[in-house]
Amino acid sequence: MRNTWEFLSTQKIVFGNGSIQKLDKVLQQLKAKNVLLITDPGIKQAGIVDRITDMLAEAGYKVVVYDQVVPEPPVDSAVECYEFAKEQMDTDAIIGLGGGSSIDMAKLVALLTAHGGHPMDYASGESQVPGPVTPLIAIPTTAGTGSEVTSVAVVTDVANNLKLGISDNHLRPLVALLDPELTVGLPAYVTACSGIDALSHAIESYTAKPYAYIQAEGELVFQGAIPIADALAVQAIELVADNLVLAVQQGSNLEARSNMMLASLLAGMAFSNAGNAAAHALAYPIGGLVKSPHGEVTGLLMPYVMDFNASVQLDKMEKIAQLFDVNTAELSKEEAATAASQAVLGLLKKIGLPTKLSEIGIKEENIEHIAKTTLTIDRLIRNNPRVSTVDNLKELLYKAL
Ligand SMILES: NC(=O)c1ccc[n+]([C@@H]2O[C@H](COP(=O)([O-])OP(=O)(O)OC[C@H]3O[C@@H](n4cnc5c(N)ncnc54)[C@H](O)[C@@H]3O)[C@@H](O)[C@H]2O)c1
Ligand SMILES: [Fe+2]
Repeated sequence: MRNTWEFLSTQKIVFGNGSIQKLDKVLQQLKAKNVLLITDPGIKQAGIVDRITDMLAEAGYKVVVYDQVVPEPPVDSAVECYEFAKEQMDTDAIIGLGGGSSIDMAKLVALLTAHGGHPMDYASGESQVPGPVTPLIAIPTTAGTGSEVTSVAVVTDVANNLKLGISDNHLRPLVALLDPELTVGLPAYVTACSGIDALSHAIESYTAKPYAYIQAEGELVFQGAIPIADALAVQAIELVADNLVLAVQQGSNLEARSNMMLASLLAGMAFSNAGNAAAHALAYPIGGLVKSPHGEVTGLLMPYVMDFNASVQLDKMEKIAQLFDVNTAELSKEEAATAASQAVLGLLKKIGLPTKLSEIGIKEENIEHIAKTTLTIDRLIRNNPRVSTVDNLKELLYKAL
């Protein structure tokens, strides 16, 4: 039995409408003059990159931009971005600007510019990064992954049809700068996929196996459910329940956008300590097989994973139902747990996301491979409150098909 837990986050979080104006001050505090900004073409097209580079140029910084990040980035694209970064002299800080894809790419470049090698060198198990990485500032433009505060960078291992997470506390950015105004132009579909990912992080951290019963030795990045993460996750679940539909269907609603960005942040702080569980583990092989965005996959799986786990987390499932405004007074614990998964299913439908694996291209013949591969993702699967086996995961997957 494990007796202690720890809680880590970024050194500094700056949050609020217009907070992008604080970037100059943040860079001054880091004593950075030469900045590498990593982003993607969609964010450039939205005008966000030019706004920031103009502001920094005016303040006297030398800024080099890499704007070729691809969504759900493959490992090779991280290598390409690193090659670009190596050509730049004297980079004192890296900015990851964008969704999880751009921020994760910035994390990998910060890692490789500090320690060299290939991303896969750091992918066998947790905590393979030998020391601090190049100073990193994360500026999210989606509200979902929480990558701005997390210890994880996710890439697609195309050769093995698998998404994989490189997880180490050194990968947490030094500063997370969150300006909800940057998300106002986010298309409805990306808002839905990223927002439901935040919900998945919060629910998976909250319902994770309690830290005392995690079966692993040594220091863990993903420790199982811990009290601080529980508090953060509860707040995040409520914020998503109250704001995601509005953010998707009325994108200009800054209050809903701001609440979703806060939800994503809190969920990121929660899961990067407590850890995700079966839905995220299942999403890795599924994400390797189909091109769906990460959030679409984890969100789709959540109601089925919640039903799968309900019998060992009845109290927490009841609480989730209440956070979705279900009146549980007249319900048994089992009924309340079912109401919780139904509330998530209802949310998926309201925001127009798929609720069946067949809708995203998964076929019956993929199920065996998905179940077996999922069990190899130890840092996530050991965190799931109910013990997973090939047979019970196959049963879950058939229900989701
Ligand atoms: N590191 C972590 O802790 C963590 C956690 C969860 C997910 N992820 C990873 O993050 C990635 C997904 O990230 P995401 O959901 O944030 O999406 P994303 O970064 O893949 O971006 C999706 C699309 O939205 C566009 N976009 C982003 N912000 C925009 C804006 N403000 N206006 C207009 N267009 C905008 C981008 O150009 C892109 O085309 C996946 O690879 C996933 O595995 C990482
Ligand atoms: Fe996720």
